[in-house]
Amino acid sequence: MNVAAATRAERGATDTRPAGVGLRLPHLAEVAAGAPTTAWLEVHPENFLANPHARELLLDIAERHTLSLHSVGLSVGSVAGVDREHLKRIRRLVDQVEPILVSGHLAWSTHRGMYLNDLLPLPYNEETLRVVATHVHEVQDALGRPYVVENPASYVGFATSTLTEAEFLAELVTRTGCELLCDVSNAYLSAANMGYDAYAYIDAFPAHAVAEIHLGGFTREDDEATPGGQILIDTHAGAIAEPAWDLYAHALRRFGRRPTLIEWDNELPSFSRLLAEAERADAVATDALGHGHSHALAG
Ligand SMILES: [Fe+2]
Repeated sequence: MNVAAATRAERGATDTRPAGVGLRLPHLAEVAAGAPTTAWLEVHPENFLANPHARELLLDIAERHTLSLHSVGLSVGSVAGVDREHLKRIRRLVDQVEPILVSGHLAWSTHRGMYLNDLLPLPYNEETLRVVATHVHEVQDALGRPYVVENPASYVGFATSTLTEAEFLAELVTRTGCELLCDVSNAYLSAANMGYDAYAYIDAFPAHAVAEIHLGGFTREDDEATPGGQILIDTHAGAIAEPAWDLYAHALRRFGRRPTLIEWDNELPSFSRLLAEAERADAVATDALGHGHSHALAG
């Protein structure tokens, strides 16, 4: 058994910790000062690497709280490769805060040393698989632990894709031993944007490798390419939409209970509003699975 598989087996389907929330800079001082919080918190390492004051607060918080790291700067889909200096900086932070999970998107956001604001999509084919698998291996070697890869929000498909996203992710897991982060809101909005069934997507998702679930708000906008049409944008602004909660319940019945994180980045409300959203996630999980039910109903 490789290291990644061993870690997964250790954590297994028994990680029933309650939902957590994303900790963003405006709430940092409040949480460091002892405000009530969730059992775990997820942060973007990029917010702390060049900000000594924020880092100091984070290290203080890490003494008392369980953290996970969600990188928005490790570009495993970029043909130019992963930025090794950035990887070293993240490794140093990992060693300091000992997160339960380290995750990032299946996307590319860097090109020749430039960081782009958007997470850009990839065609799903053998060529991309080779590139992404090489980079995931590199990240896992540098971090000394499995990397948790997240399904992206999609707005367009590629004519050069030969695999579905679920098939691509399953093959990536087989080749690298990585784990997966299933962003249920991304699944919902991608399905709406691309015209496929979100429930069928969850049914095809490689359940055995799911280490975490994300839920975030999205925004409905007019689609300039289709008169009268609308497109859902992954803005992480606002509450979780009702159909995303329904899809979350379905995902839990398929995957079993998994650490679930509320992502709210824009139009950030009070920290207590985030906690209320996490409480709702726990209530949905209890409704879907019952107390103490942690095992997946399907593989
Ligand atoms: Fe996400």
